[in-house]
Amino acid sequence: MALCLERENIQHDSFRLFFPSYPPLTKGKNHSQAINVQVRDLIPGLPVVRQSSILSSLFQSSPPFSLINLTVDDLTRQLSEQFGFATFRPGQEEVIRAVLAGRDAMTVMPTGQGKSLCYQLPATLLPGLTLVISPLIALMQDQVASLKQRGIKAAAFHSGLTGSEKHRVIQDLNQKRLQLLYLAPERMQHEGFLQLLRTLWVSLLVVDEAHCISQWGHDFRPDYLKIGRLRQELTNPPCLALTATATTRVQIDLCKRLSLRDPLKLVAGFRRPNLALSVRPCQSRQEKLATLERLVREREKGTILVYCATRRAVEEVAEWLGHSHQSVGYYHAGLSDEERRLVHDDFRRGTVRILAATNAFGMGIDKSDVRLVVHFDIPGSVEAYYQEVGRAGRDGQPAACVLLFHERDLATQEYFIQLAAKDPEGSDRAARMRTLLQEMLGYVSVPTCRQLAILDYFSDEAERALGPCGLCDRCVTPVRQACREVSRDDAASAKAVLETVSWCGGRFGVSRIVEILRGSRSKALLAFGGEGCPTYGMCRALSKPSVTGLVKDLIDSGYLQVEGAEYPTIDLTGRGQEILRGTSAVILKGAEERPRDVPVKKPSRDRALPIVALGASPEDQQIFERLRQLRTELAEEENVAPFVIFHDKTLKAIASHRPATTGALLEVPGIGELKAERYGRRVLAAVNGEK
Ligand SMILES: Nc1ncnc2c1ncn2[C@@H]1O[C@H](COP(=O)(O)OP(=O)(O)OP(=O)(O)O)[C@@H](O)[C@H]1O
Ligand SMILES: [Mg+2]
Ligand SMILES: [Zn+2]
Repeated sequence: MALCLERENIQHDSFRLFFPSYPPLTKGKNHSQAINVQVRDLIPGLPVVRQSSILSSLFQSSPPFSLINLTVDDLTRQLSEQFGFATFRPGQEEVIRAVLAGRDAMTVMPTGQGKSLCYQLPATLLPGLTLVISPLIALMQDQVASLKQRGIKAAAFHSGLTGSEKHRVIQDLNQKRLQLLYLAPERMQHEGFLQLLRTLWVSLLVVDEAHCISQWGHDFRPDYLKIGRLRQELTNPPCLALTATATTRVQIDLCKRLSLRDPLKLVAGFRRPNLALSVRPCQSRQEKLATLERLVREREKGTILVYCATRRAVEEVAEWLGHSHQSVGYYHAGLSDEERRLVHDDFRRGTVRILAATNAFGMGIDKSDVRLVVHFDIPGSVEAYYQEVGRAGRDGQPAACVLLFHERDLATQEYFIQLAAKDPEGSDRAARMRTLLQEMLGYVSVPTCRQLAILDYFSDEAERALGPCGLCDRCVTPVRQACREVSRDDAASAKAVLETVSWCGGRFGVSRIVEILRGSRSKALLAFGGEGCPTYGMCRALSKPSVTGLVKDLIDSGYLQVEGAEYPTIDLTGRGQEILRGTSAVILKGAEERPRDVPVKKPSRDRALPIVALGASPEDQQIFERLRQLRTELAEEENVAPFVIFHDKTLKAIASHRPATTGALLEVPGIGELKAERYGRRVLAAVNGEK
């Protein structure tokens, strides 16, 4: 396409570029168009014709003139002079080149990899404004401050500005003094501001944290849906979408919603070789608190982040850690803007070393010395999880990421799902949330390298090919039998379980299913006609823990799924249905092999038992429950956390040891003189069922 370049007078401040037909400027008309170019917008020292590579970024898919790319040297010089970096990180240069050439791009790079540079550097070269939509005000301010230090003309526009600050930004925009503007998504609702934007020359539209545009993303923001329209109104500048956490599903979604045209798709660098990922199963909230406290104590240096699912948990955890540690803070969406800003500043400065937070904290936060990220509750998706652990070890030094997993916590996620489902238009969302949670559960129980599981999840094939990480709990302590084909007997039992679940049609939970299989005569079961189930009594020969274990294995292996929190029920998954149709065979993932059917041994009373075995007898279980109740009472009386009184482990040991005297109580591990004296009488009463 021919380009008529009329330089009215290059000595003047501006000149006009004419070109024959440029569709988006005037809809429906096809005549020559012109655009004003400010000379000061051009790069000094570069001949005008070479600047065309930059100017071309104004035009959509078919640039009106041929591109002249900047040389490698131009870019690296800019990198070192403006940003002080010697080399590009993987993926950065490719994206920057695409953007400068006016191509749309979608970049998925893990957190801390340096996505910002992919638009900040072009912003210093492009003639017009680089407009960045970004959801976090605190983050914008950080970035603007560091850009200004580098001599880059940047500003942010959001609700946190005072009237005069807003006025200054508007003036700067009017006078075309800005290279880069960060914009909070809700600003797109303000017609006056949009009007101003339309008069500007936006040469690049950046959508940071672009997963917020997808309902499959873990942080969907309805305001983000307006970006598509904004882009049209700005006459379709090239668009760069950036995110750290987009699965293939989210990637497709965001390309569609932003109408990206043949974008450069770059997914890079998901492996975080310095992060040691692990999951610690916990039996109770107390155990989680105790484990957390131990993890925090072990780390004397560096910053620690503890993610919790709810505001209440955040405050509880912060308070709990505050008893024994200094510089503990917390952050959640219930705090005022000002409070959040203060916490964020303190965290950045290091005055707050240990921070408990909900997922409201984190996106875009760039603190290099986070040495430990603990997930006190299971997050709702693998994306959310990886985004959050991604805060750790940004300086490349080793860091640990520990997820404390307690099955009960699923109730919180389930609550969020139910909440979504109540919304008249939320049923799709609830279904999506459930899928994401199932995937997260899959990650928790994955028997092999956790990094690989994550690379799989994000389809980072290149990194996957490099093999396991060697650092995660699964690599350090390999599970004995990662995947086992079940024996013929087991296969028959597994099929019987699936048939039972199918017969129940999603009405019941694990224990009812086990009762049917073991041919229980319980009244409740007979009342609903459980006897009529074709598999009734088929697993009579197996113990209850054994059948229960099999059901759980089938859940872990994705043949069955759990639904509901308060009264969890189980149902078949697609894979489970395939087994029943006979189109595939059962393969169990079971991390450790389920104990074969050994009769449950009663603990002997004449020797001190270490810790009670799993699969405790029903009596042990009852005693344990009574002891827990006692512990709650004692904790309330003394106003301390329950596990300060006794650990779960100790209660289990008492339950299986069943001491009758104070002397016998002293033999139980975890019970010292002091505790025996203080609580002994009431503990013995609880063991004997006197209370
Ligand atoms: N080429 C480079 N060389 C050295 N350091 C770099 C380079 N590019 C970026 N960085 C630095 O890496 C850090 C993280 O960058 P940035 O905040 O852009 O990450 P991000 O990918 O946007 O992460 P998030 O997903 O958390 O927003 C910053 O301190 C930045 O200065
Ligand atoms: Mg970022
Ligand atoms: Zn590993």
